[in-house]
Amino acid sequence: MGEGSLTIDVHYSALNYKDALALTGSPGVVRKPPLIPGIDCAGVVSESSDPKVPSGTAVVITGYGYGENRHGGLATRVMADAEHVIPIPEGLSLQDAATLGTAGITAGLAIRALEHHGVSPDSDLPIAVTGAAGGVGSLALALLSHAGYRTVAITGRTDEAEYLTLLGATDIMSRQEFLAQPSRPLLPEQFAGAIDQAGGEMLATLLASTHSNGVVAACGLAAGSGLPTTVLPFILRGVSLVGINSVFQPQDVRGELWSLFAGANLPLDQISQVIDLADALETAPRVLSGLTRGRVVVKVRD
Ligand SMILES: NC(=O)c1ccc[n+]([C@@H]2O[C@H](COP(=O)([O-])OP(=O)(O)OC[C@H]3O[C@@H](n4cnc5c(N)ncnc54)[C@H](OP(=O)(O)O)[C@@H]3O)[C@@H](O)[C@H]2O)c1
Repeated sequence: MGEGSLTIDVHYSALNYKDALALTGSPGVVRKPPLIPGIDCAGVVSESSDPKVPSGTAVVITGYGYGENRHGGLATRVMADAEHVIPIPEGLSLQDAATLGTAGITAGLAIRALEHHGVSPDSDLPIAVTGAAGGVGSLALALLSHAGYRTVAITGRTDEAEYLTLLGATDIMSRQEFLAQPSRPLLPEQFAGAIDQAGGEMLATLLASTHSNGVVAACGLAAGSGLPTTVLPFILRGVSLVGINSVFQPQDVRGELWSLFAGANLPLDQISQVIDLADALETAPRVLSGLTRGRVVVKVRD
């Protein structure tokens, strides 16, 4: 079970891209095998030696190395440190918390990064979101829409147009069409900012298409870890490239994001697909192949 001042009865976890890598035996996620994967966990504290988080508290954990270097949420119980949990705010259920999870935190951090660099809903151009039908992409679209942004959902699955529109996407562009643009360091300015899950050619094309002084938040590597670009978007257009890391973030930043989620009335039921714990292993390859939509929430107990 490992160590920690709290024992948590896990109700829901999720299959993040990282969890899918861990469950399919890809190297690099599980640092200390044997280990229970699951970077997200929503549950109820059943035992506590820390008065700050008494037993009975409904909590959510994302990041901090759970499912990577200590046992994670894909189990009925997890040992946790009181400093790592966020009490689930009123208005969100345990299932909602798992639907948001790491993907919600990542999307929320990316939007904060855009705004920190001056992007706002009043910007003349929309925000591009890649991997739009995936977990981070879906939540980024929903949160941007809630905040009043216009968005372009870039997706390999244009047949999900109805779903993406329901999340608030203003426009939908196929990934193929986006990548068919000439491979130039600077392209016509199409976006005030971008939230990217893909890396590689997608990220390079976003940088080339971002408005002067715009910002691109790099979250993922679904297309690859390379970045075939030049310095021109940075030095000729003042574009900023900001990295997003959801694993290590101060608790006050996490707390602010969870409060925002609780007040946002996001379409979480439409974003989540719930599976049983017993089905996690066979679902993991589908996550890596981009065949699952939105968030795959794992029901661990009734
Ligand atoms: N930085 C962080 O802290 C952090 C946190 C969470 C996740 N991530 C990373 O963010 C990425 C997305 O995570 P997720 O949980 O949202 O995964 P996910 O639910 O599996 O979604 C990934 C999406 O990426 C798109 N995609 C798949 N293959 C692609 C390709 N070859 N080129 C371009 N797009 C492709 C697909 O969207 P469409 O079908 O719409 O094209 C897919 O649904 C992963 O790389 C993950 O490791 C990073």
